[in-house]
Amino acid sequence: MPAIVLIGAQWGDEGKGKATDLLGSRVDYVVKFNGGNNAGHTVVVGDQKYALHLLPSGILTEGVVPVIANGVVVDIEVLFHELEALTSRGLDVSRLLVSANAHVITQYHRTLDKVTERFLGKRQIGTTGRGIGPAYADKINRVGIRIQDIFDENILRQKVEGALDIKNHILVKIYNRRAIAVDEVVEDLLSYADRLRPMVADTGLELNRALDAGKTVLFEGGQATMLDVDHGTYPFVTSSNATSGGAATGSGVAPNRFDRVIAVVKAYTTRVGSGPFPTELFDESGEFLRANGFEFGTTTGRPRRCGWYDAPVARYAARINGVTDFVLTKLDVLTGLATIPVCVAYDVDGVRVDEVPVSQSDYHHAVPIYEEFPGWTEDITGVRAFEDLPANAQAYVLALEKMSGSRISAIGVGPDREAIVVRHDLLT
Ligand code: GDP
Ligand code: IMO
Ligand code: MG
Repeated sequence: MPAIVLIGAQWGDEGKGKATDLLGSRVDYVVKFNGGNNAGHTVVVGDQKYALHLLPSGILTEGVVPVIANGVVVDIEVLFHELEALTSRGLDVSRLLVSANAHVITQYHRTLDKVTERFLGKRQIGTTGRGIGPAYADKINRVGIRIQDIFDENILRQKVEGALDIKNHILVKIYNRRAIAVDEVVEDLLSYADRLRPMVADTGLELNRALDAGKTVLFEGGQATMLDVDHGTYPFVTSSNATSGGAATGSGVAPNRFDRVIAVVKAYTTRVGSGPFPTELFDESGEFLRANGFEFGTTTGRPRRCGWYDAPVARYAARINGVTDFVLTKLDVLTGLATIPVCVAYDVDGVRVDEVPVSQSDYHHAVPIYEEFPGWTEDITGVRAFEDLPANAQAYVLALEKMSGSRISAIGVGPDREAIVVRHDLLT
């Protein structure tokens, strides 16, 4: 089973990092194909906790080749910070490959992200402020800077000049900020050239050759289905394709090479930033999920909005991504609840709607229709076999499986690397 895509089914932070880490040493390559350092993956290995943003989670496994593919936007300063932090903890990061075609996040993207959000006021997206949107906007506007440009000073200078031309007018005249000097940006980028050069590769060619040779390649999505720029709750989304299709365009591996699509889904729902979230809780149940699930952003530290499981969202993810397997995470967080509500459909202005509505206004009005499931009180963090879960926990998982559009192949029962119940092998 050589090419596997792993994506988030909800609004991010489902535990994709841990799921990637679980496949660990059975995989030869782990490829990040979208997003940038807006992602935040926490992986717990023994007594060590790692927080990764730009680097693919596969970097934690010895022997795996981590790849930052063409679909990613790379903040080079952050890249070297993360590499240095891992090196100082004794990890070997020398295998990392970075696509020559990946776009670069610079100082002006970060500045524009922050001032634009401030300008939007009440209408703000609640971005991570990492310059993601402006960097992707430049890519689509054909004024982006690519990794390969850093190795040609002439081209780099021309491109930075072109990019800053209009942006400086906007920064000065609209946002009342200082103009950014071309030299400053060019010198900053050039300062990384020597360290960057050995990592840069034609990653599309490398990955296709690896697949030809029978290697196993895992494509790890950042963000998630409902944050996808095409399929998510636009405009409250990120600026890349976080769904499985993005794995093809974002890496140079064709769609007919993918064998399996794994979606990571939490046993409840969270969201960071603005936008519709029908099952959001504003009462003590929301507090319970936030406290028990430790729902605070890895990237920005913001408290995550919390709510019940939303089956139409999971079904939507199954459809859009072609999900073959779900990994259901954080089941342990629900321990102690007397009953667990699950959203099975929505009431939109008095009409029952079974699927995620195509109209954003309808989605803003969608009120969840809940079905209640009995809870359990036993600690499940040590359970490793499905049959050893309390009967009500088993019933909850089977009920979600029935309404979510694909089988649930693994179940997270705690933050640790080992805290997982596997029902179906994810690689065979
Ligand atoms: P990602 O962005 O999808 O990689 O997810 P994050 O790392 O941002 O958030 C998931 C959080 O849940 C992390 O702190 C993980 O350590 C934690 N986690 C993952 N799986 C489980 C699980 O099954 N149970 C519990 N309690 N925590 C988990
Ligand atoms: P992982 O990979 C959760 C959200 C931001 C904001 C919107 C746009 O850890 O699941 P951006 O900075 O991307 O322009 O912000 O998307 N967002 C995430 N939410 N998990 C993430 O990544 C996210 N990456 C972006 O909060 O609402
Ligand atoms: Mg995260």
